[in-house]
Amino acid sequence: MPIDEITQKVSDRYAQAASTGEQMCCPTSYDMADLQSFIPEEVLKISYGCGTPAGLKTVSPGETVLDIGSGGGIDCFEASRLVGPTGHVIGIDMTDTMLAIARKNAPVVAANLGYASSNVEFRKGMADSIPVNDGTVDLIISNCVINLAPDKRKVFREMFRVAKPGGRFTISDIVADQPVPQYLVHDAEKWSDCLSGALTLTDYIAGMAGAGFLGIHLTKASPWQVIDGIHFFSVTLTGYKLPASSSQSDIRYATLRGPFSRVVDELGMTHLRGIPQPITPDAVCLLSQTSLASHFVLSSEALWLDQTDDRWTAVYPADAPCTWQGHFAMLAGPFIEASDDDHHVYRRGEPVEICSKTLRVIETDGYAPHFAIINRAGRHVGGDAVTCTPNGSCC
Ligand SMILES: C[S@@+](CC[C@H](N)C(=O)[O-])C[C@H]1O[C@@H](n2cnc3c(N)ncnc32)[C@H](O)[C@@H]1O
Repeated sequence: MPIDEITQKVSDRYAQAASTGEQMCCPTSYDMADLQSFIPEEVLKISYGCGTPAGLKTVSPGETVLDIGSGGGIDCFEASRLVGPTGHVIGIDMTDTMLAIARKNAPVVAANLGYASSNVEFRKGMADSIPVNDGTVDLIISNCVINLAPDKRKVFREMFRVAKPGGRFTISDIVADQPVPQYLVHDAEKWSDCLSGALTLTDYIAGMAGAGFLGIHLTKASPWQVIDGIHFFSVTLTGYKLPASSSQSDIRYATLRGPFSRVVDELGMTHLRGIPQPITPDAVCLLSQTSLASHFVLSSEALWLDQTDDRWTAVYPADAPCTWQGHFAMLAGPFIEASDDDHHVYRRGEPVEICSKTLRVIETDGYAPHFAIINRAGRHVGGDAVTCTPNGSCC
């Protein structure tokens, strides 16, 4: 299907949905009672996201937020409240009907928040050609939109262009556990249903990384639909446009604390738990980001950790039989590769089949934020218990 045709069909579909107020897309977990206190019902009922703008929790007063594919404006209005009257929010969308509803409600929301005038503006524009100046945005959000854009690499490049150095994104979107086959890609209706244009998690993160973002990591993942054996799930990802690194820092070494026993960071450097690794100023900047900092001890002198040190973390599988129940774990950053203490090697975005013991390990606090887990069995599996040898033959 030609790109223009996809875009027109998607826009027509969302224009129609906005006019009728019909329900579309996926479950979200907004606190509707809270939002109803300042956002009109007309906006709330055409909320078509697939996540909640978790990144908004990181917003500070005075910041500039950009929402790509802002629809009726729900996330822009939440951002408006958080950045306060000195902040600025820009929503962009390609669909006039959506823009009209969002613009009509902006002064109502401003009045409900007690602002003298609205700090939100809605601009007509495309995700792959964002009508915003270079390097001006602190936080980019987007809720279930980029899957609808035919040229996602262009969208990711545009995001990087408009982000300030030190800026960040938090994006909720639909991804798939395997490439979407051509018979779905060429089904116009399934484009608007957020299915045809879904990338694999690997390609999604690679696209963001290719544009220049680093520290990319998972904030949330929830299963959504299985169609013809393809698992579609919603992810919320965060990443950073790092500021220029400083050669002034006296940090020279990073020592991996765990729980991973080995990781490869996004600059391609391998870290083994407990062993100090000399690092460059760029790596200092990357490893200091919130999503990575808790995994490392950064130091000016080489620092070795062993199991007796409180900073060393590890989670071992139970010494008991396990079952295979259809679970697959996908590492979703902030590393491109990581190993656990039971011989598994996880590569970013690639599903790895795991047994019940490994599932329990991955569900612990240190691991859980880094994995999306799906169950490909499609039905409850009792599974015969398998006993591991000491070398870990089952898992
Ligand atoms: C699934 S809705 C999500 C709307 C909003 N983010 C929300 O959470 O309610 C998708 C929105 O993105 C817009 N959109 C889709 N593709 C776009 C593109 N390539 N450029 C700009 N807007 C786009 C549609 O017009 C629609 O308003």
